[in-house]
Amino acid sequence: MEESLAAFTHTLEAWYTQASRDLPWRRTADPYAILVSETMLQQTRVETVIPYYDRFMDRFPTPLHLADAAIDDVLKMWEGLGYYRRARNLKAAMEVVRDRHGGRIPEDPDELRALPGIGPYTLGAVLSIAFNRPYPAVDGNVLRVMSRYSGIEEPVDLPKVKRQIEQDVAKALRYGTPRVFTQALMELGALVCTPKKPRCSVCPVASNCAARARGLTEALPKRLPKRARRRQIVVALWLTRGDSFWAERRPEGGLLGGMWQLPAVEIDDSSASLEWHARACLTELRLGHAHKGDTIREPEAVVFERVCEASHAFTHLDWTVVVFAPVGYDQAGGQLLEIHPSHEGTWVGFEEISKFVWPKVYQDVLSQLISRNHKQLALF
Ligand code: ADE
Repeated sequence: MEESLAAFTHTLEAWYTQASRDLPWRRTADPYAILVSETMLQQTRVETVIPYYDRFMDRFPTPLHLADAAIDDVLKMWEGLGYYRRARNLKAAMEVVRDRHGGRIPEDPDELRALPGIGPYTLGAVLSIAFNRPYPAVDGNVLRVMSRYSGIEEPVDLPKVKRQIEQDVAKALRYGTPRVFTQALMELGALVCTPKKPRCSVCPVASNCAARARGLTEALPKRLPKRARRRQIVVALWLTRGDSFWAERRPEGGLLGGMWQLPAVEIDDSSASLEWHARACLTELRLGHAHKGDTIREPEAVVFERVCEASHAFTHLDWTVVVFAPVGYDQAGGQLLEIHPSHEGTWVGFEEISKFVWPKVYQDVLSQLISRNHKQLALF
């Protein structure tokens, strides 16, 4: 095993040197740039990340730029990438780097691990790629490559299997150059050892691959059965006043915290109709929050039109946003909507949409709604 690991390392590094893609974060060893790129690359494809990375590095070129930025500006640069917790953690981490590490990303593994949002993968990626230290960075690509090469038939999401793979990668790293080997493994997973139809005929390590020898390439890696995502219907309201609409900020800390949306209720399970929820939501907006102990107000008798819908799959949650507009408000001779002062939100002009940060599903909703109002606007 030791001998074959050494050969594996050397062969992969030689292959990487001539076959790797020229990606923007590969032209630098700046630990901040590596941390930004690796944070974006978690859960997101390379082609999607490239323009975001370039824009982000232009806008926040050093840890201090990011630490001193307003969180809304950071989220705006992240808009559309998803998993916004990553952006919040990255900024929080740079505040620690500014306050405790003189503005430099620490090379000490314990100091690095203590920064917000740095898990084992990011830790290994920054230590190996930026600081050239032999720490494994095991993501989905690497789990696939290693489980095939070693012929591991147990599910790779079992902690003991992942630990074994991390140990094997850590050993292999010692035979080579960490900053090259880590990226070589990822690159093999991205270009050759792909999830479907792996290109074994051009693989530099195919001759020692256990999965190939046993005819298991496409069957590996095995994974534990996925838990079904919870389904949630979100009933949202499209409330307009001329060329503007009412929008609210989502509470800090939760899902999509601090981002903007239409006023909405999130429904897990209900026997009432969606229109009933729309009515209840509108009543609350007009009359203020019902307080604890109050009897639930009977929603006002307003007729709604169902105007559009959009869906989004989060890691553990499936969202369908269904948008309703009250009929007879803000139309010729209709009633003007007054929102109760207990509601924090604002009227957003159609032309101002891009100044706010919207979850992807609401970008989708707003594009539909604005084009329905016959407006040709560049929104996002
Ligand atoms: N996926 C995760 N990290 C990566 C990197 N540095 N290059 C390409 N793909 C990646």
